[in-house]
Amino acid sequence: MAPAHEWIAILDFGSQYSQLIARRVREQQVYSELVRFDIPAAALAARRPAGIILSGGPASVLEDGAPLCDPALYAQGIPVLGICYGLQMTAKLLGGRVRPGAAREYGPARITVRRPAALFRNLPEGLDVWMSHGDQVAEMPEGFAALAETATCPVAAMGHEGRRIYGLQFHPEVVHTHHGADILRRFLYDVCGCRGDWRMADFIEESVAVVRAKVGDRDVVCGLSGGVDSSVVAALVHRAIGRRLHCIFVDNGLLRAGEAEEVERTFGGAFGMDLRVVRAGPLFFERLRGVTDPEEKRKIIGRAFIDVFSAEARQLGDVPFLAQGTLYPDVIESASPTGGPSATIKSHHNVGGLPPDLHFSLIEPVRDLFKDEVRVLGRALGLPETIVNRQPFPGPGLAVRIIGEVTPDRVALLQQADRRVQEELSRYEGYAGLWQSFAVLLPVRTVGVMGDGRTYDQVVVLRIVESQDGMTADWSRIPYDILGRISSRIINEVPGVNRVVYDISSKPPATIEWE
Ligand code: XMP
Repeated sequence: MAPAHEWIAILDFGSQYSQLIARRVREQQVYSELVRFDIPAAALAARRPAGIILSGGPASVLEDGAPLCDPALYAQGIPVLGICYGLQMTAKLLGGRVRPGAAREYGPARITVRRPAALFRNLPEGLDVWMSHGDQVAEMPEGFAALAETATCPVAAMGHEGRRIYGLQFHPEVVHTHHGADILRRFLYDVCGCRGDWRMADFIEESVAVVRAKVGDRDVVCGLSGGVDSSVVAALVHRAIGRRLHCIFVDNGLLRAGEAEEVERTFGGAFGMDLRVVRAGPLFFERLRGVTDPEEKRKIIGRAFIDVFSAEARQLGDVPFLAQGTLYPDVIESASPTGGPSATIKSHHNVGGLPPDLHFSLIEPVRDLFKDEVRVLGRALGLPETIVNRQPFPGPGLAVRIIGEVTPDRVALLQQADRRVQEELSRYEGYAGLWQSFAVLLPVRTVGVMGDGRTYDQVVVLRIVESQDGMTADWSRIPYDILGRISSRIINEVPGVNRVVYDISSKPPATIEWE
């Protein structure tokens, strides 16, 4: 995608915020890509970025072996913005001096802008920003001026306006930095001269053209899961080639209540796609009989999916292409700042294992996009909000939310309970801030009393978490009255359940799913 668009190269020195910088740049309608920190200057210049951002990172430029960019980058006439570690490295490589700070600054700080230069033009003189650093610039390289300071850090920002090289000691990409987006915008538009040509409407047109050119008059198969990524891919490829796209939806019997019907309604109905729904629940239940080990369940479900999908795909005859929803974070090739390069390439489970006689070429139309961009794209393609805003749902489905053996009855019970969780929470004003919310069925019975009788019934757990990326999570502080309503609805309306508990564990050390 990049060559057709103006773009910003983000050299990744291992900051936890590197991807966030890339997203923030794209939010300003400028395409951006993460590249390895050690990319040779000539190779980067050949790709003609409009500007270069040097990310933060965990290392110190004062250490031996600290990761450094090719110093020739500064001599290409391409504007550069160093953030945190990127600022310190710039100071060091251009002849300045960095020293360990007297005080470590971590968290909120207030800067005073002394020279607005291009970055701070028309912004307030005092700005609340987010800092996270130990070292600081003691002497700036020749020709640089300090643009802003804090009480403990005399060079909170520096710049050389003639060479268009800037550095910030704070993080403009995090929301805690006031006017952070404005500072980035000034770099992109006023320093780099970007025009802002990264827009979803154009992306659709370009992607449609690319898919058509690649596919010609042949056919494409797509495994539709009902999740955001595969749904958006299906809608996009369908726009390009219509009914030469064949979507296969495997109903494994482990989905949430109403999910298969919604997929049929949306894709088979509203979009008029060639949607093949394979009702394979019985096969999955058969293979899961007697199995209680979580990893064994996952393996069985993974294999069964491949068997069912492959059998259906073979019936389509000779289809050379497989469309799938690989996202940008899955394909970013980064270099670890300590030690050698490490490629973080995840494989999508439904492709790696396909049998050898099904050798597809891949169509991955959203592999340059972040998840939030995929959602914007989904809306632009006319997908309903229920799909665009769908919470992540694990491939093994409810099987990993039923502790112990998975049987049709237990799935039916959990679907009933889970539906009530969703119904009640969808009315909650904080719903959009939840990462996942669901019910889990435990393999224990507890005593209760209903009417005049004693019950000995099952326990449902509510798991409702907030998270940015699923790697860490915290349980959500849901108002008690909502928890109360969910609990009484489940106990009153779902036969066989007499107790509901709320999981108040964070991740780590717990995980989000119970298995
Ligand atoms: P955990 O339970 O590891 O979950 O904290 C993190 C995120 O991953 C999802 N998850 C899965 N997704 N197949 C999937 O496709 C799986 O086997 C699987 N296990 C967990 C989970 O829902 C959460 O979003």
